[in-house]
Amino acid sequence: MQHAEITGWGKCLPPAVLSNADLATFIDTSDEWITSRTGIKERRICHCNFSDMAIVAAQRALAAADLDPLELDLILLGSLTNDSLCPNTASIVQDAIGARNAASIDINSACTGFLYGLHIGTNLIRAGAHKKVLVIGGEFISHYMDWSRRDVAVLFGDACGAVVIEASDDEVGLLAAKIGCEADAKYAIQITNLGSAYSRLSDDFLYTGWNFDGQEVFKRAVKSMSQACTDVLDQVGLSVDDVHLVVPHQANKRILDSLAKRVGIPQEKVFVNVHKYGNTSAGTIPVALAEAVDEGRVNPGDYILSATFGAGLTWGAGIIRWGNRVKPLRISDAELPPCDKTALEILEPHIRRYKEHAKTSV
Ligand code: ACO
Repeated sequence: MQHAEITGWGKCLPPAVLSNADLATFIDTSDEWITSRTGIKERRICHCNFSDMAIVAAQRALAAADLDPLELDLILLGSLTNDSLCPNTASIVQDAIGARNAASIDINSACTGFLYGLHIGTNLIRAGAHKKVLVIGGEFISHYMDWSRRDVAVLFGDACGAVVIEASDDEVGLLAAKIGCEADAKYAIQITNLGSAYSRLSDDFLYTGWNFDGQEVFKRAVKSMSQACTDVLDQVGLSVDDVHLVVPHQANKRILDSLAKRVGIPQEKVFVNVHKYGNTSAGTIPVALAEAVDEGRVNPGDYILSATFGAGLTWGAGIIRWGNRVKPLRISDAELPPCDKTALEILEPHIRRYKEHAKTSV
């Protein structure tokens, strides 16, 4: 049987940093509250389009694999914050990177978009339908943020990551996955006022708001991710002791600690970067994976456990066996367009517009 080896990895973080202290200048919050409840210290704010981040992450992953983009036969892009409804963002990426032989599909399962994509891409390679697949996950979530909601606004950030997977005879790549959805709680995370369920005649249309039941999501996240972890370990006949590194969805440090405790994995085996980037939704796992490899946390043949959850409420876990190579074959010089603003300067007109709209809609 063919497997789907991860041969390239890349990430793209926009340069503008929004600190907890920056947030406290316009919402009623504090560094102490955010740090103690979430572990987050800062996050990035995108100054360009989502597709710009996706293109840079893709080019870096392709360079790491030293793969000609014309050889790609599929692009799977997990995101809920695409450039536009039409065309899809995977098509925009396909054109920009010159991958004209690749079918291009967007996947919207929120934070689980990358793992869902990796699962789908891996199984298409296993089935023989595709050979070289680019899997992207990322988010421009600040674009949809309701900056008056302190319980939501402090949690998220913008980023994108990507991997290249290629058919291989070696038993490497995503060996097993379990994905699912608890749709009875679908409105525990909801972005409102955008989409065909909302009247375009309403004054609120496009003023995206959030319904967010953080505690419900927290409880379900820990339960579903830990069950999915146990399931994938059982599928491949491994125990937690065989796992070298856990690369989970980065939503909240307390969720990561609870997950590690419940699955029985020591915290030092859990890769954490939520303090630097916050929750970048579909971006967290590919960004964390790329950082873990680049920081020397992954060795040839390692077993990596990944777990995720997000709006839907979708969830999943996967067990990845890393291949022989932990160094990129090439380094891309792809960069985002320059940014001459601070994060607060980027956000200021949006915060002002929301405040003005709130006054007129009372
Ligand atoms: N600053 C200060 N106080 C705050 C803030 C803030 N930023 N946010 C909330 N509070 C207040 C609340 O108003 C509340 O005050 P009250 O007791 O006077 O009513 C108090 O803090 C406690 O609020 P809780 O909601 O009980 O805080 P909790 O400890 O549950 O933490 C949190 C909230 C961080 C949101 C947590 O529940 C969480 O992380 N949940 C998971 C959410 C998540 O990451 N989802 C990811 C999926 S999103 C996707 O897929 C797109």
